[in-house]
This record gives sequence, structure tokens and C-alpha cells, in this order.
Amino acid sequence: MRVGILTGGGDCPGLNAVIRAVTRRSLSRGHEVVGVLHGWRGLVEGQFEPLGPREISGILPRGGTIIGTTRTNPFKLEDGVDHVLEHFSNGWLDALVAIGGEDTLGVAARLYREHALPVVGVPKTIDNDLAATDYTFGFDTAVFVATEAIDRLHTTAESHNRVMVVEVMGRHAGWIAVHSGIAGGADVILIPEQPITVEETCRLIKRRHDGGKDFSIVVVSEGYELSHDTGERRLVAGEARETDQFGHVTLGGIGETLGREIEQLTGYETRVTVLGHVQRGGTPTPRDRVLATRYGLKAADLVHEGNYGRMAALHGDAIVDVSLEEATAELKTVPPQWYDVAKAFFG
Ligand code: F6P
Repeated sequence: MRVGILTGGGDCPGLNAVIRAVTRRSLSRGHEVVGVLHGWRGLVEGQFEPLGPREISGILPRGGTIIGTTRTNPFKLEDGVDHVLEHFSNGWLDALVAIGGEDTLGVAARLYREHALPVVGVPKTIDNDLAATDYTFGFDTAVFVATEAIDRLHTTAESHNRVMVVEVMGRHAGWIAVHSGIAGGADVILIPEQPITVEETCRLIKRRHDGGKDFSIVVVSEGYELSHDTGERRLVAGEARETDQFGHVTLGGIGETLGREIEQLTGYETRVTVLGHVQRGGTPTPRDRVLATRYGLKAADLVHEGNYGRMAALHGDAIVDVSLEEATAELKTVPPQWYDVAKAFFG
């Protein structure tokens, strides 16, 4: 069998660990493995590269993806899906492991549903917003990076009696903000799912200052809608407002706007740090390396068994498989009970 591996969407730490695990296990069973370059674009254009022991050597701790990634959606390209299918009908590929988040796996689910494409999925995203799995790999690393930044900002905030606003990633879900905020001891955490207002944020900061703490840390998720007591709400998007092939606008900038409003309303000196892609780069944490490795082995097993249309998933401590359909039906957002843990330390 010739097994293709594709990484799609935003890169994330641990992708190479999955590639290594899928390749190692598949080669040991006598299969051939090829990397499909640049996500779905490579499958539309037929860009493949063989993966063997030499290619995967030393990649376990390396961030990014050795086979590249894009946000290409074959359903948005003329004859895109036909080209994808051709590479299977002409014998180039027998099976595909698609490693991605809601968009990449959404394409995989549709190709399986509508064209019986022999594909299995691996759940990747620093946002941790994929359903049917407890955790995606890459999330732990992003939380680690954000927590370290919050720790560092604490000491400088305290020295200057400042409010520090930290903008973290999380397009539709506030998982990174909630976890890094809890771990870093944030005084307010703002997420898309529970948009508490700027005025309420300032009340919490003032209460804290009245209680004798004259510095505060506010963690805000890039997808938080700027909300006011008047009921007004708006998403702050980046300068380039064009959408990608999956219809997503470029986010970023909420931190600056929020920081200005906090300074105006409280009178406290405020500074803003936008962590951006630092959260996605660099070496994966040990937990992400292990999770990615387990996912990769499971994906290789699913391919070997011909168990297509499935995705490797984490349930508790067990690696299981779920349907791609279930995994991409809806996003996994932060439930109120998780936000309650964070709220216990507000103000
Ligand atoms: O989906 C992962 C993610 O990092 C989001 O948190 C963020 O909104 C987006 O990707 C950024 O995308 P890009 O790398 O295209 O700027």
C-alpha cells in the first residue's frame, strides 16, 4: 500500500512527531509512505515526496511540518476534488492520513462521505476546539508558551504598577486563554464564549487595586468580541480583512483596543503584549510529543485495517477512534464550568 500523509491549516508543534509515527509504523508493515506537500494543495497539484527512515530522522522535537501546510480547500478550486480523486484512481496513493483541525478534517470528512476517499484523520490545533477528542496536540505547547509569557509579565507589571493585557490565540474558542490564564494566575480572562464587558473588566481591576494590589494581568483571546455594558459587541480583526478559503477573517488587534479602553476607564497605566505565532512555533512539549506519537500510531493502524472515515482521538487516557463526521460536526468551545474555575480568581 502507498500511504500519503498531509498536514493542513495552521502549523502546530507535534506535526512532525505524527509524521514520524505514521511513517515508522507503516514502513514496518511493508507499506510505502509519501508526504503530500503543502496540505490539500499538494494533493490537487500532485506534489509528493517519498518519506523513508532518512527523511523522518531527527524530526520528533522539531516544530512546524517537514511537508509544509496551506489553507487550501479543494472544494473551492475548479476541478480541485477531481484532481484529488485522480491521484487515488491512477494508483499514486492507496490511503491518506490527513492531519489537521476543523477545516482540513472537514474536507477529509466530506471527501470520505461523498467520494469514499480512503482517508483517516489526526486532530491537530493549538486552539483545542475540535470535537470528539479530549485534547488536540499542539495545545499543550501553546499553553506552555503563553503561561511562561504571563509569568514574565507578572514581574514587570508588579514593578511598574501596570495593567498588562496579554492577547493569545484562539479563533472561536478560549481554551488557550482559560488554561494559560488559570496557570499564570490572570486577574481577568476574556474569551469568545463568555464575553464579559470592558466595564466589568475595569470594575474587577479596580476592586483588585482597592484591595491593595496595584497591578493586574488581563488575558484576552483574539476571538473575544469587544463588549460594552450598552450591549454593543464587535470583533476586532487584523488589518488585512480578507478571508481565507475556509471563510475565516484574519484576527488580531483586540489586545490594543482593549488596553486603550482599560487605561481610559481606570486611569491605570496599561501595556499590551500580543503573543501571536510564537505560540505555534518551536519545539513541542513532551506531552504533545507523546500525544502526537500515539495519534500517529493509531492513524497508521486505522489505515492498515482499512478503517477509513475515522479519526484518532483521546478519551481520558485512551487513544480511540471516532468518525470524522462526528469530529467535525461542531466546534468544542469552553463550557461554563471551565470558565467558572477561571472566574474564581478574577479581581
Ligand atoms: O487555527 C489556529 C490558529 O493559530 C488560530 O488560533 C489563529 O486565529 C489562526 O490559526 C492564525 O492563522 P494564520 O497563521 O493564518 O495567521
